[in-house]
Amino acid sequence: MCGIAGCTGGLSAGAVVIASLKRLEYRGYDSAGITLGGSPLRTVKISGKVCSLERSLGPDDCLATWAIAHTRWATCGAPTAENAHPHLSGDGRISVVHNGIIENFAELREELTGSGHVFLSETDSEVIPHLIEEYYDGDPLRSTASALRRLSGAFGVAAVFERHPETIICASVGSPVVIGLDDGRTFVASDVQALAPYTRRVIRLKDGEIARLTPCGAEIFSLADLRPIRPEISDLPVETSVADKGGFEHFMLKEIMEQPECCSNALKGRLDFDRGTAVLPGLGLSPRELARVSRILIAGCGSSIHAGLAGAYCIEGLAGIPVSVEQASEFRYRNPVLEPETLVIALSQSGETADTVAAVREARSKGAWVTAVCNVEASTIAREADSVIPLRAGPELSVAATKTFTSQLVVLYLLALLAGRNRRLPFETASRLLREAEELPCLIREVLDEAPAIKALAEKYVRAEDMFYIGRGNLYPVALEGALKLKEISYVHAEGYHAAELKHGPIALLDELVPVVALVNPEDEGEKVCGNIRECLARKAPVIAVVAGKDMPDALPVRDIIRVPACSRFLLPAVAAVALQLFAYFFARSRGCSVDQPRNLAKSVTVE
Ligand code: G6P
Repeated sequence: MCGIAGCTGGLSAGAVVIASLKRLEYRGYDSAGITLGGSPLRTVKISGKVCSLERSLGPDDCLATWAIAHTRWATCGAPTAENAHPHLSGDGRISVVHNGIIENFAELREELTGSGHVFLSETDSEVIPHLIEEYYDGDPLRSTASALRRLSGAFGVAAVFERHPETIICASVGSPVVIGLDDGRTFVASDVQALAPYTRRVIRLKDGEIARLTPCGAEIFSLADLRPIRPEISDLPVETSVADKGGFEHFMLKEIMEQPECCSNALKGRLDFDRGTAVLPGLGLSPRELARVSRILIAGCGSSIHAGLAGAYCIEGLAGIPVSVEQASEFRYRNPVLEPETLVIALSQSGETADTVAAVREARSKGAWVTAVCNVEASTIAREADSVIPLRAGPELSVAATKTFTSQLVVLYLLALLAGRNRRLPFETASRLLREAEELPCLIREVLDEAPAIKALAEKYVRAEDMFYIGRGNLYPVALEGALKLKEISYVHAEGYHAAELKHGPIALLDELVPVVALVNPEDEGEKVCGNIRECLARKAPVIAVVAGKDMPDALPVRDIIRVPACSRFLLPAVAAVALQLFAYFFARSRGCSVDQPRNLAKSVTVE
């Protein structure tokens, strides 16, 4: 969501935090700001992206030796310069950046206003510097801790004090904060991505920890009682430094093109041909425990839900275990029934989505075994779940999920295979499914080779303002995902529907200006989808058919066809999704949209 960056030490902390902020910008980017250390503190805030903030700074600003900065995704208050972080205390001598949400901010603001504090923004965050000012007793650590103990909600915070040069206080309660260590420089950020160019040595603050940073290093304390805590220093994996576009115009295109490799990574070491099964030690269940699982509940948000829906077809089809797929946002509030034999799978690329975090906590509190399927192994969800199956897709920086979506499909396919073998799935069938899985990277490569043809089609339809995506069976979730991709990055209204459902209402919206993208698997309800396509054509809607294999199952007057390779029905969602990602990408690009950072969106949504 929002991003925090800070640095103390060295001769260019200003430049460092701006560079770090750019690496965090994929998380939120509607306004930004920086406080540069000095006497007085100098704070610059803008509405817009980090490059505008950078342009507002003078050459001397970059030379400051301590600084904190923030890139924001607006939750509380519009994305204006006033609402951008950092926020200042009344006397301007304390500056704070904040990620997360303060649930009791209204009462704190009323209390502080009563004692004479004047607020300049509409944000919840602004209460923090005023509260610290209220508790300030000459010790920045103690006063920040006292203020933070008054907050309820989730927050990652960094604060600087005019009277304490080159000191940054930072804390984490339910929102990630990571500290970077280097000789003579110490960094803070909300995401390791920001630190990768500067250091490999990091300390991840645990929930309820507060730290004092100086150029010489970091001291960690418990927020509750300021008891010193021995820090655990870990090494950043090398892959976190891969944050460039690799010659592609956008991260999204780069990430779409990486999918053959990501699928290979997701499969690597997980196919056991001798025993005809998948190997997923991350699941953390013995064969006997897995055999006892009577129901699987998949929770997630956004693209992760769509992956979950497609995964449910696999699990039910191969393992015969009933699966329900839940919006994580709803899960916690409807008092779900979980039996001891229910396996809960938390699907999340980032591992930080607040609703999915809440679902994990709810499920665990009810005694269910929770397995996270996650791309970020150091994330909150991965840490809090009972077990973790990593996606191994590498960092995904474009806001629209692509490679993590297909990697989720691969992991759920493997899970279905494993659970199936654990029950009645015959060795021969499983062996064939394993061989087919091995083919997936090649199948995806074939779709990527179609990029020029898909681009031409996207450009042909670029003036559409409404579109429908339809599919049946396990291509229905792909229709949902295709429509989500298109609306996320092109701002065109797009809806995914079950092909059979279209006639129960939405068909009223069809005419010659509303294209329908129809997903067709000739081997699986192909004739039926053709019937649904005919219904669209009868309303003069132009149809783009995404067809598995060479031939349409029926002679239909559809000329705009995207062909994807025929493959096992359980793998087709991953293959077809890639075609729709490319379509959405080229469509948005032709409309001149900000593909990697679409308006109003954020990569990981850390508020409910
Ligand atoms: C945000 C992103 C989506 C993503 C969703 C769930 O809305 O913009 O692309 O699918 O969060 O994210 P997660 O990290 O939990 O998979």
